[in-house]
Amino acid sequence: MEDRVIRTLFVCLGNICRSPTAEAVFRDQVKKAGYDSRIETDSAGTIGYHEGLPPDNRAQATARGRGIDMSDLRGRKVVAQDFESFDYVLAMDNENFADLKRICPAGREGRLRMFLDFAAERTEREVPDPYYGGDRGFDHVFDLVTDASLGLLSHIRAENL
Ligand code: 4NP
Repeated sequence: MEDRVIRTLFVCLGNICRSPTAEAVFRDQVKKAGYDSRIETDSAGTIGYHEGLPPDNRAQATARGRGIDMSDLRGRKVVAQDFESFDYVLAMDNENFADLKRICPAGREGRLRMFLDFAAERTEREVPDPYYGGDRGFDHVFDLVTDASLGLLSHIRAENL
Protein backbone atom coordinates (compact mmCIF):
# COMPACT_ATOMS: atom_id res chain seq x y z
CA MET A 1 0.00 0.00 0.00
CA GLU A 2 1.28 3.43 -0.89
CA ASP A 3 2.06 5.60 2.10
CA ARG A 4 -0.58 8.26 2.47
CA VAL A 5 0.43 11.73 3.57
CA ILE A 6 -1.47 12.93 6.65
CA ARG A 7 -2.33 16.63 6.50
CA THR A 8 -2.80 18.76 9.62
CA LEU A 9 -4.21 22.30 9.82
CA PHE A 10 -3.97 24.44 12.97
CA VAL A 11 -6.60 27.17 13.27
CA CYS A 12 -6.99 30.21 15.55
CA LEU A 13 -8.57 33.64 15.11
CA GLY A 14 -5.81 35.75 13.53
CA ASN A 15 -3.29 33.12 12.37
CA ILE A 16 -0.43 35.21 13.75
CA CYS A 17 -0.06 33.97 17.36
CA ARG A 18 -1.43 30.59 18.42
CA SER A 19 -1.88 28.57 15.23
CA PRO A 20 1.48 29.44 13.63
CA THR A 21 3.15 28.59 16.96
CA ALA A 22 1.32 25.25 16.97
CA GLU A 23 2.25 24.63 13.34
CA ALA A 24 5.93 25.43 13.93
CA VAL A 25 6.18 23.34 17.11
CA PHE A 26 4.39 20.36 15.57
CA ARG A 27 6.45 20.66 12.35
CA ASP A 28 9.63 20.57 14.44
CA GLN A 29 8.49 17.47 16.34
CA VAL A 30 7.46 15.74 13.10
CA LYS A 31 10.85 16.48 11.52
CA LYS A 32 12.78 15.29 14.58
CA ALA A 33 10.75 12.07 14.63
CA GLY A 34 11.59 11.50 10.94
CA TYR A 35 8.02 11.82 9.68
CA ASP A 36 8.36 14.97 7.59
CA SER A 37 7.67 13.05 4.36
CA ARG A 38 4.49 11.54 5.87
CA ILE A 39 2.90 14.42 7.78
CA GLU A 40 2.22 17.89 6.36
CA THR A 41 1.43 21.00 8.39
CA ASP A 42 -0.31 24.30 7.75
CA SER A 43 -2.20 26.93 9.74
CA ALA A 44 -4.98 29.43 9.11
CA GLY A 45 -7.20 31.98 10.86
CA THR A 46 -10.96 32.35 11.00
CA ILE A 47 -10.49 36.05 10.15
CA GLY A 48 -8.45 37.33 7.21
CA TYR A 49 -7.00 40.51 8.76
CA HIS A 50 -3.44 39.19 8.77
CA GLU A 51 -3.45 37.54 5.35
CA GLY A 52 0.09 37.28 3.95
CA LEU A 53 1.72 38.54 7.15
CA PRO A 54 4.39 36.78 9.24
CA PRO A 55 3.60 35.70 12.82
CA ASP A 56 3.39 38.32 15.61
CA ASN A 57 6.86 39.41 16.78
CA ARG A 58 6.13 38.28 20.35
CA ALA A 59 5.17 34.79 19.18
CA GLN A 60 8.29 34.62 17.02
CA ALA A 61 10.52 35.79 19.89
CA THR A 62 9.06 33.20 22.28
CA ALA A 63 9.51 30.43 19.71
CA ARG A 64 13.04 31.57 18.87
CA GLY A 65 13.91 31.42 22.57
CA ARG A 66 12.84 27.77 22.54
CA GLY A 67 14.79 26.96 19.37
CA ILE A 68 11.92 27.19 16.87
CA ASP A 69 12.08 29.42 13.77
CA MET A 70 8.65 30.31 12.40
CA SER A 71 9.66 33.35 10.33
CA ASP A 72 8.73 31.60 7.05
CA LEU A 73 5.03 31.26 7.98
CA ARG A 74 2.40 33.61 6.52
CA GLY A 75 -1.19 34.23 7.57
CA ARG A 76 -4.20 33.07 5.59
CA LYS A 77 -7.90 32.65 6.16
CA VAL A 78 -9.42 29.20 6.58
CA VAL A 79 -11.84 28.06 3.82
CA ALA A 80 -14.45 25.28 3.65
CA GLN A 81 -12.24 23.45 1.12
CA ASP A 82 -9.68 22.96 3.91
CA PHE A 83 -11.98 20.27 5.32
CA GLU A 84 -11.48 18.31 2.10
CA SER A 85 -7.70 18.81 1.97
CA PHE A 86 -6.79 18.25 5.63
CA ASP A 87 -7.27 15.12 7.73
CA TYR A 88 -7.05 17.06 10.99
CA VAL A 89 -8.46 20.57 11.49
CA LEU A 90 -7.37 21.63 14.97
CA ALA A 91 -9.17 24.47 16.76
CA MET A 92 -7.35 26.45 19.45
CA ASP A 93 -10.44 27.62 21.35
CA ASN A 94 -14.21 27.18 21.54
CA GLU A 95 -14.91 30.21 19.35
CA ASN A 96 -12.59 28.89 16.63
CA PHE A 97 -14.33 25.51 16.93
CA ALA A 98 -17.79 27.06 16.53
CA ASP A 99 -16.69 29.20 13.56
CA LEU A 100 -15.13 26.16 11.89
CA LYS A 101 -18.20 24.03 12.52
CA ARG A 102 -20.28 26.62 10.66
CA ILE A 103 -18.23 26.26 7.45
CA CYS A 104 -17.54 22.51 7.73
CA PRO A 105 -19.04 20.56 4.80
CA ALA A 106 -21.51 17.81 5.69
CA GLY A 107 -19.76 14.54 6.42
CA ARG A 108 -16.43 16.16 7.37
CA GLU A 109 -17.26 16.96 11.02
CA GLY A 110 -14.97 14.17 12.24
CA ARG A 111 -11.97 16.09 10.96
CA LEU A 112 -12.61 18.99 13.33
CA ARG A 113 -11.03 18.59 16.75
CA MET A 114 -10.06 20.73 19.74
CA PHE A 115 -6.26 20.76 19.64
CA LEU A 116 -5.86 20.46 23.42
CA ASP A 117 -7.87 17.23 23.39
CA PHE A 118 -4.52 15.70 22.38
CA ALA A 119 -2.61 17.19 25.35
CA ALA A 120 -1.65 14.65 27.99
CA GLU A 121 -0.89 16.90 30.93
CA ARG A 122 -3.31 19.78 30.62
CA THR A 123 -6.67 20.26 32.23
CA GLU A 124 -7.45 23.28 30.00
CA ARG A 125 -9.56 22.77 26.94
CA GLU A 126 -8.62 26.00 25.12
CA VAL A 127 -5.37 27.71 24.11
CA PRO A 128 -6.00 31.24 25.46
CA ASP A 129 -5.64 34.17 23.04
CA PRO A 130 -2.34 35.91 23.97
CA TYR A 131 -2.79 38.86 21.58
CA TYR A 132 -3.80 41.49 24.16
CA GLY A 133 -2.00 39.95 27.12
CA GLY A 134 1.56 40.12 28.42
CA ASP A 135 4.54 38.08 27.30
CA ARG A 136 3.78 35.30 29.77
CA GLY A 137 0.77 34.57 27.59
CA PHE A 138 3.05 33.54 24.76
CA ASP A 139 5.12 31.26 27.00
CA HIS A 140 1.93 29.63 28.22
CA VAL A 141 0.73 29.16 24.63
CA PHE A 142 4.07 27.59 23.74
CA ASP A 143 3.86 25.13 26.65
CA LEU A 144 0.27 24.15 25.83
CA VAL A 145 0.91 23.59 22.12
CA THR A 146 4.10 21.63 22.81
CA ASP A 147 2.19 19.18 24.99
CA ALA A 148 -0.72 18.87 22.55
CA SER A 149 1.66 18.44 19.59
CA LEU A 150 3.33 15.47 21.25
CA GLY A 151 -0.07 13.90 21.85
CA LEU A 152 -1.19 14.59 18.29
CA LEU A 153 1.96 13.02 16.86
CA SER A 154 1.46 9.89 19.00
CA HIS A 155 -2.18 9.74 17.93
CA ILE A 156 -1.36 10.07 14.21
CA ARG A 157 1.39 7.48 14.45
CA ALA A 158 -0.95 5.03 16.17
CA GLU A 159 -3.89 5.67 13.84
CA ASN A 160 -2.31 6.19 10.46
CA LEU A 161 1.40 5.42 10.11
P1 4NP B 1 -4.29 34.51 17.30
O1 4NP B 1 -4.26 35.93 18.06
O2 4NP B 1 -5.74 34.20 17.02
O3 4NP B 1 -3.67 33.58 18.27
O4 4NP B 1 -3.47 34.70 16.03
C1 4NP B 1 -4.92 37.06 17.56
C2 4NP B 1 -4.32 37.81 16.58
C3 4NP B 1 -4.95 38.94 16.09
C4 4NP B 1 -6.19 39.29 16.60
C5 4NP B 1 -6.79 38.53 17.56
C6 4NP B 1 -6.16 37.41 18.05
N1 4NP B 1 -6.83 40.46 16.12
O5 4NP B 1 -7.94 40.75 16.59
O6 4NP B 1 -6.29 41.15 15.24
